[in-house]
Amino acid sequence: MSHGLLKGKKGIIFGALDPNSIAWITAERVFEEGGTFVLTNAPVAMRMGQINELAEKTNSKVIAADATSIEDLENLINNSMEILGGKLDFVLHSIGMSINVRKGKAYTDQNYDWTHKGLDVSAMSFHRVMQTLYKNDAMNEWGSIVALSYMAAQRVFPDYNDMADNKAYLESVARSFGYFFGKDKKVRVNTISQSPTPTTAGQGVKGFDGFIKYAEKMSPLGNATAMDCANYTITLFSDLTKRVTLQNLYNDGGFSNMGVSDGIMDIIENS
Ligand SMILES: NC(=O)c1ccc[n+]([C@@H]2O[C@H](COP(=O)([O-])OP(=O)(O)OC[C@H]3O[C@@H](n4cnc5c(N)ncnc54)[C@H](O)[C@@H]3O)[C@@H](O)[C@H]2O)c1
Repeated sequence: MSHGLLKGKKGIIFGALDPNSIAWITAERVFEEGGTFVLTNAPVAMRMGQINELAEKTNSKVIAADATSIEDLENLINNSMEILGGKLDFVLHSIGMSINVRKGKAYTDQNYDWTHKGLDVSAMSFHRVMQTLYKNDAMNEWGSIVALSYMAAQRVFPDYNDMADNKAYLESVARSFGYFFGKDKKVRVNTISQSPTPTTAGQGVKGFDGFIKYAEKMSPLGNATAMDCANYTITLFSDLTKRVTLQNLYNDGGFSNMGVSDGIMDIIENS
């Protein structure tokens, strides 16, 4: 159901890989709410071609950009402003990748080249995106920038591996850059800490099936879906949340404040 919350707003959405991607579902919702945008993903992800279906459905253009390349980001941001006809109102950073996770390398036995690459792609890219937006004065006043995070930034989830550290860095960058973006440009910056969600990135984590079930049983409202995340993002892009900034906002059915639940106790007592 559309409320026209993003009517007239323009932006960039990073990270729609396939219809399960949180960014994909968010793009569909932004479109429904009246927003216009450019879709982007890494050149290698483009080769799968699915993003073009989303572009067609949402009347949007696609520009390839590796989020670790300043040159690609300059090109993306300047061309997006040209295509959309002015400065931007919203940006979604929905990017994550760890080679250590993908290749099953334990946290206690890191390949540091991979660790470095994962940090660059998953976390430093957020700084790069914001620095490029800031230097090009690409955001309208009261614009909104959102990145997606996970609770492993605060608490231990052993199999989340080096992605936990990447998310801690990502959340810190949101606060640090958010200060300058707020003070100098009246733009807000937040992260949403999302429940485990069955996507390509999510399912790549060892033991994912176990921890999505665990989170479901722990959370009084159950896990937040990708659609819930998209809806939350819409509110953060809308004018209804103008002074929400520098926050890490949990969209997790209550998981982050739980100690133990009846559902988990039942399982333990009956095991
Ligand atoms: N799925 C979950 O359980 C979960 C939970 C909390 C947070 N998140 C976060 O949500 C975000 C989106 O992930 P998702 O679950 O939708 O998975 P996804 O695999 O659909 O999306 C990850 C995206 O990152 C893109 N990407 C990778 N390297 C890139 C690069 N160099 N430049 C540009 N883009 C690049 C991929 O192409 C892909 O589109 C990530 O930040 C992820 O960590 C996911």
